[in-house]
Amino acid sequence: MKRIVIFASGSGSNAENIIGFFQTKRTAKVTHVLTNNERAKVLDRCKRLGVNSLIFSREEFFKSDKVLNFLKEEADLIILAGFLWKIPEQMVADFPNKIINIHPALLPKYGGKGMYGKHVHKAIKENKEEETGITIHYVNEHYDEGGIIFQAKTSIKIDDSVEDIAKKVHKLEYEHFPSVIEDVILSLDE
Ligand code: GAR
Repeated sequence: MKRIVIFASGSGSNAENIIGFFQTKRTAKVTHVLTNNERAKVLDRCKRLGVNSLIFSREEFFKSDKVLNFLKEEADLIILAGFLWKIPEQMVADFPNKIINIHPALLPKYGGKGMYGKHVHKAIKENKEEETGITIHYVNEHYDEGGIIFQAKTSIKIDDSVEDIAKKVHKLEYEHFPSVIEDVILSLDE
C-alpha cells in the first residue's frame, strides 16, 4: 500500500475527493495533508475525515530540511492539490516523477507564476476562449512545465461566468484526478 501525502493551500475540495477515493482502494492511502496556511479550509476537512494534517512555515519549507525529511520518511507519492508555492529544487531532485500537480487549464496555455485558481478562469473568460480544461503533470524545477500525464477539456459558452468556468473545471478535476493518481501508483511497481 503506497503512501500519498497531499499539499494544499486552500479549500481542499480536491484533497477531500482524493482521500475519499483511496479509502476504498488497496493501492494507496492518503496518510497526511500538509499546508502552508493555518486558516486553510482543508484543515477542517482533514479533521472531519480523520486524516493527519501538518502546517509548515515559509522558513521551514524553503530554508530548512524539515518538510523534505518528513517526506523522505513518510511519502511514496506527493500530490499538489491547490498548493501555491514553488517546490524547492532539492525536493524535486529527491522525488523524480513522484510529485504531481493539477493545473486548472490546458497547459502550456495559462500557466506560470500568478496563474492559479480564479486568476486562470478570469483570464480564460477575458480572452473569450471557447474551451478550457485540466492538466495533470509531473513537477519539475519550472512552474507548470513538467511532463504532462493527462489532460481533459470542457467547452465554454459565451455567457459562462468565471464561476461557471471554475465549476466546469472542478467537475473535471473530481472526475479524473484520483484515477490518474492511481494509474501512476500502479506504474511505480512495473
Ligand atoms: C484547483 O482548481 C486546482 O486545479 C487549482 O487550485 C484549485 C484548488 O481547489 N490549482 C492551481 O491553480 C495550481 N496552479 P481545491 O482547494 O478546492 O481543491
